[in-house]
Formats: sequence, C-alpha cells, structure tokens
Amino acid sequence: MITPTPPFPYFGGKYPISSTIWRYFGDVSHYIEPFAGSLGVLLGRPHSHSQIIETVNDKNCLIANFWRALQSDCDGVAQWANSPINEADLLARHGWIASQVEALRENIISNPHYFDIKIAGWWVWGQALWLGDGWCSAKISKRQMPSISTNKGIFKNESSRDIVDYLNRLSNRIKKVRVCCGDWQRVLSPAVIGTSKDIGIFLDPPYKGTEKVYGEVSVGVSQEVFEWAIERSSFPNLKIAVCGLNGDYDFPKDWIEIPWKSSGGFRSSNNLSRLKERIWFSPNCGDIQLSLFA
Ligand SMILES: C[S@@+](CC[C@H](N)C(=O)[O-])C[C@H]1O[C@@H](n2cnc3c(N)ncnc32)[C@H](O)[C@@H]1O
Repeated sequence: MITPTPPFPYFGGKYPISSTIWRYFGDVSHYIEPFAGSLGVLLGRPHSHSQIIETVNDKNCLIANFWRALQSDCDGVAQWANSPINEADLLARHGWIASQVEALRENIISNPHYFDIKIAGWWVWGQALWLGDGWCSAKISKRQMPSISTNKGIFKNESSRDIVDYLNRLSNRIKKVRVCCGDWQRVLSPAVIGTSKDIGIFLDPPYKGTEKVYGEVSVGVSQEVFEWAIERSSFPNLKIAVCGLNGDYDFPKDWIEIPWKSSGGFRSSNNLSRLKERIWFSPNCGDIQLSLFA
C-alpha cells in the first residue's frame, strides 16, 4: 500500500524530512504531533510501524475540521473538494469560509462529533490553489489568481490519480488518529505523557517571526516549546524533537542537532531560512540506522 502524501501544501510542512525523524524516534507506542498542520511527519511514518496510538492537535479549527471530517465522511469531503479550478470560486469561497470560522471554532470545540464537510472540502481545495498565506483569513481581501503553474495538494499528480480514491486512502490512514483542536500543551499534560512507556513528541511550532502566517497568532510559543522540552529532556519514556532555525535555541550538548534543507516556502527566498533549518532531538533519541551498523 502506498502511503498518501499530505493533501495540501503547507508553509513549514515536514513531510520531506519525515524519514529522518522516524529514524530517530523508532516505532514509538504513542506518537504525538501537537502542531499538526498537514500531518507531514505522521504521513511519512513507515508502514512497518505498529501505529498503536497517534494523537494530533492544531489550534487552527479549519485544520482540525478537515482532519475530523475526512475521518468520518470522506466521500462528503471529496464531493466538495473535487471541483474545477476557477478564480471566481476561489475568491468567493475564501470570503465565505472566512465568515464561517468563528462559528466553526465554537462548534468544533464544544461538540466532539462536529465537522463540516463543505468547509473541509472547499478549504482543502483552496489550500492547493491559494498563493501565499491568508487563505480563508478575513483580514485578506485582495484579488488572488489561483496557482496554475504547478499542481499541488489534492491536485498533485492529478492526471495519474483520482482525487476521490486518494482522499479515501488518506482517510483510511488517519481513521484511528486522535484529533484535537486547541493549544499545544493540552495534548501533553502529565496524564497523557505519564501513561505510555515510549512516547515520540514532534514539536514543530511556528518559527520565531512567522507566527502570523498561520492565522492563529501564537507569538512566543516557540520559546515556551523550547523550555517545555528542556525540562523533560531526561524523562526516560519521552523522545522529543523540536524544529526551528539555526540560532533560535541553545539546546544542551547532549541534544542531537540535525541540519536539513526545506524545498522552500513563499518566505524562504527572502530570508534564506531553507538553508538554516534544524531539528533537535532529545538525548533518548538515537539514529536507528546507525545503531544497526555500530
Ligand atoms: C510549522 S506549522 C506545522 C507544520 C507541520 N509539522 C506539517 O508538517 O505540516 C505550525 C502549526 O502550528 C499551529 N499552531 C500555532 N500556534 C499553535 C498553538 N498555540 N497550539 C497549537 N497549534 C498551534 C499552526 O496552526 C500551524 O498549523
């Protein structure tokens, strides 16, 4: 079975580096992704892993709604997502979804069974077409040409794959994943991280200075993440990874620092951030491939 790739392009998405992350985590019994976005790392998890318990979370209710809707009514989401590229639709749907966000957030948070397939389908459709940040953000009202130069997200490899079939495979992969919507620390309470023997925690907060890109302004969250991770460095049951840019954090020497290059987002060409990406792994993580040959 081929693992489906993330359904939407996402600034800061970690799918390209996911195999390295799994080399350092190994087949953990509980995997937690508190800043889920496009689920880049979860979707890159090797098939051979047991995938027993997986928990993801994002503060953005449009993201939580998409994953929840896809789990429960994939055909419903596909029905709205599978529509032609049309600039007028893009603009109209942008405004319409932006006007629904407050009510959606209330419903998503107060009712664990709530999801909206129309918002989920149109949101993932536009996420593949909208250039830059601000998709479905009420603050942005400028006219926007759809992305027509490359096929991204659900439109990737469109000629060789059927969107409905692709979304069905994605839905099956995430069927048992626990999806939360709120602040990252809620899925890392002592009750959660105290119960399993072997937990992998992938912390990918908005990088310093990029918080506004995600619509949910979380200024200072990366520093909180760093402090949270340092305090739990020596917990024997935790394997922790933190993402950032070179120089963002000063981790102790026993943390493993891995440099990597992202393929570039819409801001990376300005600040060359793609040349400075880093992932720091806590001392409990070890490169499984290297240990096989040691
Ligand atoms: C760098 S992106 C994560 C990308 C993800 N690893 C991927 O592969 O697509 C950061 C995410 O954190 C979310 N976020 C921002 N502040 C948050 C907070 N306080 N708690 C939880 N999620 C938050 C944003 O909505 C965004 O989706």
